[in-house]
Amino acid sequence: MKITIIVGTRPEIIKMAPVIRELEKRQENYFILHTGQHYSYNLDRVFFEQLGLPPSKYNLEVGSGSPAKQTARILIGVEKVLQQESPDVVLVEGDTNSVLAGALAAVKLHIKVGHVEAGLRSYDKNMPEEINRMLTDHCSDYLFAPTEKAKEILLNEGILKEKIFVTGNTIVDTIYQNLEIARESGNTLGSLHLKPKQYFLVTVHRQENVDNRARFASILEGLGRVAAEFEMPVIYPIHPRSRKTMAEFGLQPRGLKLIEPIDFLSFLQLESSARLILTDSGGVQEEACILSVPCVTLRDNTERPETLEVGSNILAGAVPEKILKCLKTMLGRENNWRNPFGDGDAGERIARLIMGV
Ligand code: UD1
Ligand code: UDP
Repeated sequence: MKITIIVGTRPEIIKMAPVIRELEKRQENYFILHTGQHYSYNLDRVFFEQLGLPPSKYNLEVGSGSPAKQTARILIGVEKVLQQESPDVVLVEGDTNSVLAGALAAVKLHIKVGHVEAGLRSYDKNMPEEINRMLTDHCSDYLFAPTEKAKEILLNEGILKEKIFVTGNTIVDTIYQNLEIARESGNTLGSLHLKPKQYFLVTVHRQENVDNRARFASILEGLGRVAAEFEMPVIYPIHPRSRKTMAEFGLQPRGLKLIEPIDFLSFLQLESSARLILTDSGGVQEEACILSVPCVTLRDNTERPETLEVGSNILAGAVPEKILKCLKTMLGRENNWRNPFGDGDAGERIARLIMGV
């Protein structure tokens, strides 16, 4: 059995790490194919180094571009590697262009596809990620659903139950495997002059938020009001996409401390000690929930409804007054919710299911 693991962006590397770790432990025949969608050191290599991952055997170096160009380059590059290597199974994780193009290239060559984090839906087709998720799920042979809810969604879309496996989300594994290491690995709070539970952490990078001037400006206004009213530092490790549009739109955020995107262990420190997290990231909504830190999601919908149900998260959209109101609601909540994303053994389960043992 030969396995190809496809990764392309920051969250895919972080969430695929437990599966890679397990295949490595079992000495299985696998290799990593990196599409090169993310290429900056702090969105890519730093995660391989910190999570102890072996280097990718191939890097397609597709880089940035319009959705069609990027997806097309990945399709062509992945096809070539798969023809050369003839794996039995290709594994993809999440909802990026690398995921859709990787799955499509494989299925066209009649190679089995396993989708890690299957069955998530925001029901908002304006998001590129929603299209990627739906299409990838429908061409996959193994659907690794993180929760029973995700399984239900797949069943309701007519996917055969024999193909669906509820494994938990691999992000729980990654957190459990790295939280202690993160706590012992330097003093990120100190170097940013922060005190535990006395700052807010922000990430905003989704296309629907930051590529729209009015919407991005409104979110930044809301965050500025939060900083002013609570007199607490608001730290924003800013994704290059957001940095670029912020400059293009001439937006000047008030009251926020912008820093470069940071490594995973430092980010875990920042997350776990934050008073509250405001984000539009999928992974960060989950991590806040798992780490018992309240979360305000700067979107109108989420494909992580489990976080709303357990009470760790609230949808605020992009209107400043609503952002403030939601933040106050979350500050008043007890953070004693349960983690709905599994027990931290998702990587092992996925490896066993693929290998059939
Ligand atoms: C992609 C995913 C998104 C995911 C995010 C994770 C799609 C459609 N979107 O968005 O779902 O949440 O990754 O972070 O696949 N750039 C750099 N360095 C890099 C990569 C990108 O500077 O290493 C800049 C470039 O200006 C580029 C922009 O960021 O144009 C956007 O990059 P892209 O890969 O197109 O999408 P993301 O916004 O990163
Ligand atoms: N992350 C990180 N450094 C940062 C910001 C985020 O290591 O400066 C990690 C975070 O812990 C999470 C992942 O990146 O595991 C989320 O990626 P992102 O928000 O880019 O993508 P999404 O989850 O929205 O697809």
